Parts: sequence; C-alpha cells; structure tokens
Amino acid sequence: MCGIVGYVGPREATPILLAGLKRLEYRGYDSAGVALLNGEDVQVVKKPGKIRALEAALQVSSPHGTCGIAHTRWATHGAPNETNAHPHMSNDGDIAIVHNGIIENADSIKKQLVAEGYTFSTETDTEAVVHLIDYLWEDGEPMENVVAAALRQVDGAYGIAVISARDPNKIVVARNGSPLLVGVGKNGEMLAGSDAAAVIEATRDVVYLDDGDYAVLTPDGYRTYHLEGQEVDRGVHQVTWDLDSIEKGGYEHFMLKEIFEQPSSISDVMRGRLLPEEGDARLGGIVEHQFDLGRVQRVVITACGTSWHAGLVGGYMIEELAKIPVSVEYASEFRYRNPVLEDGTLTLAISQSGETADTLAALKEAERRGLTTMGIVNAVGSTIARQTDFGLYLHAGAEIGVASTKAFTSQLIALSLFTLFMARRRDMSATHGHEIVQHLQVLPDQIEEVLKLNDEIEELARFYKDAQNFLYLGRGYQFPVALEGALKLKEVSYIHAEGYPAAEMKHGPIALIDEDMPVVVLAPRDPIYPKVVSNIEEVKARAGRIIAIVSDDAPELQGKVDHMIKVPHTLPHLLPVLTTIPLQLLAYHIAVMRGADVDQPRNLAKSVTVE
Ligand code: G6P
Repeated sequence: MCGIVGYVGPREATPILLAGLKRLEYRGYDSAGVALLNGEDVQVVKKPGKIRALEAALQVSSPHGTCGIAHTRWATHGAPNETNAHPHMSNDGDIAIVHNGIIENADSIKKQLVAEGYTFSTETDTEAVVHLIDYLWEDGEPMENVVAAALRQVDGAYGIAVISARDPNKIVVARNGSPLLVGVGKNGEMLAGSDAAAVIEATRDVVYLDDGDYAVLTPDGYRTYHLEGQEVDRGVHQVTWDLDSIEKGGYEHFMLKEIFEQPSSISDVMRGRLLPEEGDARLGGIVEHQFDLGRVQRVVITACGTSWHAGLVGGYMIEELAKIPVSVEYASEFRYRNPVLEDGTLTLAISQSGETADTLAALKEAERRGLTTMGIVNAVGSTIARQTDFGLYLHAGAEIGVASTKAFTSQLIALSLFTLFMARRRDMSATHGHEIVQHLQVLPDQIEEVLKLNDEIEELARFYKDAQNFLYLGRGYQFPVALEGALKLKEVSYIHAEGYPAAEMKHGPIALIDEDMPVVVLAPRDPIYPKVVSNIEEVKARAGRIIAIVSDDAPELQGKVDHMIKVPHTLPHLLPVLTTIPLQLLAYHIAVMRGADVDQPRNLAKSVTVE
C-alpha cells in the first residue's frame, strides 16, 4: 500500500527513482510523485494516476538532482488528486516527505500546528508530519535528530523518507508497521525502498529496518538507529531472486506470466521438502525451532483475501488428515473479536507479501496471548516472516500481478506439506504418506496439462465476457476454490461474482439463476461428486448456463452442462491446485477482452499495509 523509493549518490536520481517506482506500482497506483534536491532547492513533481503520467510530466519539467525521494500512492486519507499526491512539503518548501501508512494522531498534531500558524493544503495525514518536522527543527540540527524527535510524537503506521535543503545530500528513512529497507549500493550510492524490487537494479545488498528504526543515508554510507536513541546493526542481507522474475518475460501481462509459472513455482515450494522413502515432509523451519508438535491442540489460521481462501483449504486438510481441530479466521475479524485461544493453539498466518497489516496485527494479538506463531509467506525477509516463531517460505518468486495466482497454489502446497508433516507425527500411516508424496511429485506435470487448456478457456471467455454476474459453486475442498474463482473474476474483470457452497445455493442464490447466469461448478471426482451432480441438476432445471470443471470424462454430466473443462485427477485435498488454474485463466481472458487493466485493477493494491 503505497511504495517509497529514495536515492542519494553520484547519478541523476530521477531515472533511478522512476525505475524503482515502476517496480512498486503494484503497491498502489492512484498518484505518483518525486522530490529532488537541486543545490539549495527541493523540486517536486507529482501527478494523479499511474506512474506513466508522472513520467510524462518529468519529461516536460526535467528536474535535476542526485538526491531524491519518490512515492506511488494508494489513497487512504483524501481523494487521489494532485494535491494529495506525495511528496508533501513544509510551508517554506525546504522539506519533502513521502509516507506509506496511516498517522493516527494527525488531527491533533494538525490542530496544534495550525495554532502555531502552519498552513495545511492537503487532506492527507502525512502533511502533519512534515510540518511537525519543520516546527521542531532548530537551526543547524542534523535532519535525523529532528525526524526522530517528530516520530516520537507520532502514533500509527509509517514507512517514511525525508529530504531537506537544510541538510542536503542526505535521506532520512524510518519505519513503524510499514515496510522499508535500505539498499546498500556501491560507489557512493545509497537507496531506500518499500521492498527489494525497488532497489535491485542498483544493489542486492539490503538492510531490513525493524519497527521503530530510522536510518540516515548519505553518499558516504548509512547508519541505523532505534527511536529510543541507540545505534543498531540490522545486518546486510543478500537478495537472491532474479531480476527476470520481476519482468514480464514476453507475456502480455504479469498475471498470465504468473499463471504459467505455476509448474515451476509448485516445484520450488516442494524442493527439498519431500521425503519419498519415508512418505513424509522435511520442514526445516519447524524442526530447527524445536517446536513441540505434541503440544498442538488446535490450529488457528489467519489471513486475508486469496491467502484466506488458501487457509480454508488448509483447514480442511489439517482436520481431515492430521486430525487437529482448525479454525480459519479473517485476520481483520480475529484481531478484534476476542477469540478464545487455549494453550496449545498454534497460530498460522498466511501471506504472500508478508506485510498485510491485518494479518500482522492478528499475529501480534496471538503473540500477546503467549501463543506460538507460524508463517507461510512468500516475500523473504518480510515483516510477517520475521515476526513469526517459525515458518515455511513459498519460494514462488516475486508476484507482481495484483490478483494473486501462483502464490495461491504455492500456499496450497505449503499447507499440504505442513499437513503431511503433522499427520505423520500423529496417526497417518507410512503408506498413506507415500501416496501423498507420490501425488505431490507429479503435480507440476499435471499443471502443465491444465495450462494446455488455455486456448479452450480463452474461447469460453469470449462466450461469457459480457455476462453481468457469475456464480461459482463447490463443495468440500472445492468450496474455497469457488470463492477464489469468484474473487479472481471480480478483481480483474469487475464482473460481479459470488462463490457459494454448492448445496447452500438452494437457500438463496438459486433465486438468481436464469439463462443469463453463468454458473461455474467445481465437479472433480472426489467423494462428494455425486452430491455435486445433484446440485448441477438443480441449476440446469432453472436454465442456468453451466461450466463444469471435472477431473475425468464425467459421463453423468454429458448433456447436462454447457461446457466441460477437464483437469487431471489427483487426491481430493490436492485437487484445488488443479481446479483453480482454469478459473484463473477464465478471469484473466475475460478481463483482457473487456479491456480491463489486468495487472493493476482499479482500487486494489497488492500489499495492503493499512487496516
Ligand atoms: C490484497 C491483494 C490480494 C491478497 C490480499 C492478502 O487484497 O490484492 O491478492 O490476497 O491482499 O495479501 P497477502 O500478501 O497477505 O497474501
């Protein structure tokens, strides 16, 4: 949610800042802006809309400077217009700030500063911080001391970067609840970014700041401090992933590229974790932590969005196969509803970005209550990954398309590995374990088979692209897939879609069914298949158009459904990996045909770092 970049060094800052912003555009794209230090002045250029609008404006005004900060915005306070776009300036134009997060006491700071004669010209919470910095700044004081003093008065979440003509050739960055890292460049270059993608073209050496940290960046290097006052050493980490993974690589959209990456992303999450001889999984993170698995009486899975859907599938798996009671909670509900959490509850947070504010807050709540926490996270070094006691990385590579695809299927695999691991330490037989491992091993090839359906699904999309509504039905393991299929379509094509448990349909949504209602039914041959066939009959009787996702020839459905998409067969708890992919492709193609901005759907952001 909002992306920040900073650069100080020998080169012109604008191209570096713009390149960084483009890599962060998935974090928000309501407006964008840069501030550059040019000798004595701070110059600001900002524009509503996407980064290409800012780029065009920069070509006209072509400001110069070798020290600058930049921002791409997902609006929280104030409309997404030019005035509210970051950077925000002090009244005298000497100080510029970019901010990601929410300042909770902005109103009271504003009241105090207005009384002191400050003029506020935006509707943002951020403006209060820049005026506060100005207010506290005594002549000759180093910028970092002033910024730290201001931040001690601020409540809320922030990642910020500040530059000023009063202390030039320096950037001060800080974080509390919103991600921020320092990129340690070579030849007198220092960078900052909301994530490593923003700095990777210049450096792979990054320092992840902790909450309450701030850092001072100059061409001579960087120093990190905690707001309490002491200097801290957060260590330098190497970014290991490849620049190619954040490029489109010949695909028209990141979403399509990421859908097609699933055979390899699935292999990557399993790599080194399958024990075919033992019929077991090797989960180093859990073993290293020496976590006493016997203590786990219950698992609470908490997540948001697509990750929550993965959690639902995981909940079914863990209960069925490992025989541990599970509840699956929206993180935003969990943290406020005061749930009963007994000793022996393991809290499992699932997050692609590792930065989702609600998921993080839910984790903190679990920790506060003394529970052990585990993470299933994609972004290496992210806050949730670092906050949890132990966990599993997805190793799915960067996911840039705002609508999550490959991260979802990797989450499903990670959950199945965790389930296998837990189950084998309880009462699952080695034979059953072997069977699961064998089915996991062939999944990447089976995904290749599903991807061959792309042309067929594109045709199907042509047929349904003008629909106003869609219904997705599934039961058992396929119910969360129905939710995920509906979410994908809503997110990228803006068609209203609902996912529903197939049997529940007759308690409401059946009223919506007529010849204009496409109904996607997840009907692979699992134990509940005969019941799903009955649900299909019910839709057919109301003239609904049925697209069935099946896992064999499904003779029972011949003549009853309008379209049949056939995926390979696997164990019921692994089938969601295969049945989801046609739904991702359907959403993608419909969105493209409707002219929607597939990788950056309106109003969404990939990483939601506000509550
Ligand atoms: C946003 C994204 C979704 C994602 C959700 C949770 O809404 O647009 O694709 O599923 O956040 O994100 P996380 O990074 O925690 O998985």
